[in-house]
Amino acid sequence: MCGIVGYIGKKDAYPIVLNGLKRLEYRGYDSAGIALYDGKEIQLCKTQGKVSELEAKAEKNIPLRGNLGIGHTRWATHGVPNDVNSHPHYSNSGDLVIIHNGIIENYSSIKKELQNRGYTFTSDTDTEVLVNLIEEVKKQEDVKLGKAVQIALNQVVGAYAIAVFDRNKPDEIVVAKLGSPLAIGIGDDEFFVASDATPFIEFTNNAIYLEDEEMAIVRLGREVRVRKIKNDKLVENPYVQELQLNLEQIEKGGYEHFMLKEIYEQPKVIHDTYRGRLLADQGIIRLGGLEDYIKKFVNADRIIIVACGTSWHAGLVAEYIFEDMARIPVEVEYASEFRYRNPIITENDVVIAISQSGETADTLAAIKLAKEKGAFVYGVCNVVGSTISRETHSGTYTHAGPEIGVASTKAFTTQITVLTMMALRIAKSKGTISQSDYIKHLRELDMIPDSVEEALQGDEKIVEIAKVFKSAANFLYLGRGYNFPVALEGALKLKEISYIHAEGYPAAEMKHGPIALIDEQMPVVVIATNSNHYDKVVSNIEEIKARKGKIIAVVTEGDTTVRDLADYIIEVPLTPEALSPLINTIPLQLLSYHIAVMLEKNVDQPRNLAKSVTVE
Ligand code: AGP
Ligand code: GLU
Repeated sequence: MCGIVGYIGKKDAYPIVLNGLKRLEYRGYDSAGIALYDGKEIQLCKTQGKVSELEAKAEKNIPLRGNLGIGHTRWATHGVPNDVNSHPHYSNSGDLVIIHNGIIENYSSIKKELQNRGYTFTSDTDTEVLVNLIEEVKKQEDVKLGKAVQIALNQVVGAYAIAVFDRNKPDEIVVAKLGSPLAIGIGDDEFFVASDATPFIEFTNNAIYLEDEEMAIVRLGREVRVRKIKNDKLVENPYVQELQLNLEQIEKGGYEHFMLKEIYEQPKVIHDTYRGRLLADQGIIRLGGLEDYIKKFVNADRIIIVACGTSWHAGLVAEYIFEDMARIPVEVEYASEFRYRNPIITENDVVIAISQSGETADTLAAIKLAKEKGAFVYGVCNVVGSTISRETHSGTYTHAGPEIGVASTKAFTTQITVLTMMALRIAKSKGTISQSDYIKHLRELDMIPDSVEEALQGDEKIVEIAKVFKSAANFLYLGRGYNFPVALEGALKLKEISYIHAEGYPAAEMKHGPIALIDEQMPVVVIATNSNHYDKVVSNIEEIKARKGKIIAVVTEGDTTVRDLADYIIEVPLTPEALSPLINTIPLQLLSYHIAVMLEKNVDQPRNLAKSVTVE
């Protein structure tokens, strides 16, 4: 969901800002732009299209000088994607230059008022209205940029992460945040601002993550000053986060795509997610964010899980785990539906919000609603310091590392890892699981990285299957029980990156409609690994076969029954059913990846998609 980057310091701003924009490409965007300032001349270049096109245009048209720079990747909300609507935007006087991630919802009324006062507009964006509102406030109140921003933002409704500078103050950038993420990198007499830390991680590990309704004046030769937008109050000693991120984590490491790298990272990041938290032999699970609130879960009437997309699928897996092991009723809600449904929530409900980015607008809104209604809200996020991780009462981070590919893979398996540990820890406290079963599950979880490693060995076979089915127009994915959500997730992966229509269904549900779709043109991916439902799934496979459907079955290694029925089988290691989603999702990730590559799709940045949907 677009991105902002800024630099002020002694270095040349252009390469830092441009490279920062490349680091943010994974967030999804349609246009890009940059502005540089050397204290004398502002050089601004912007274009619809990719950062590479911006680079080509910039290196043709401007001398690229300046120790102050801001850059933007746009995901259009107001005004079609074109050069004029791209950011940065000038104010009418040409003194102010802004970049913005978010939406100014009341921009239309503000625009009309500014037009009445003689302002003109070159673009259709809400952002150009904002920069001229700041200019008008600056003039009318005769104040400096920082104060003008603070006053102006009290007049807008919407979401923003902005960076703005004034031609008359070449040593300063003003930033502000509400609803969209903004991090300030603190260097050695240099500062960085960005939507996340990836644009500046090689320069500094120290960052301030602005809270909602905070702004900051980033000025050379002085500490960053953070203020509350509402009342201009100074925030004493803003928390400087020491980031654990490093450059190697955000580079492809020799893989063709980030998505493939992240699929293959899963054995390691699943282990990283439980390392130090799961001591199998001692029968200990220790989740820092959970320990102080274990009673809330033990005494909960209900757990409500709110999430979107792949995180929602992880929530569905969690429903099976929590109900199976901790015997707590669970409801899994699309955050976007939950937030507008006027849901019945009591203080005896516990809400779990799952989000890789920690910035998804619908999930954030659902959290705020649940808190207003008195629920305890627990977060499962992958980005340290993200808005959702700070908005929830407590939480557990997945340790997946930065997930750059838009299609979520390692986030899904590490979310399930955290949720499984939570369910086991709570079940232990509730006494709904015997000590021996508890220890057994811990040991089984401890073996998952090796099993995932083994499942990845099936890659070559999956490439062959991808070749056969890459031109199919539709796919059906079927699973039962714990693996019904895995079927949904497999279908989403395929849709997202290959643009082939795919549907996930509970295998038994096929008879209630989808079976009408089955013919020899329809590949059906069936998750048929060892489980309590195995015989039922075999019957479903028979039903598909009887209608000439093409069957791709994920089976437990050594399976002979399904082998005789399916057209293609993908073997995975024997895994307890409750943990099988962690393994069975691997071949489905690889299948969608290889099909998309064969179709020459943009695997890491699929069309229309953003890594983090920070707008509604
Ligand atoms: C999954 O592959 C997609 N990228 C998308 O569905 C994603 O899971 C969803 O937007 C939720 O994102 P979050 O986990 O960052 O909240
Ligand atoms: N609303 C602004 C626009 O449409 C910013 C969108 C974004 O977040 O990129 O230009």
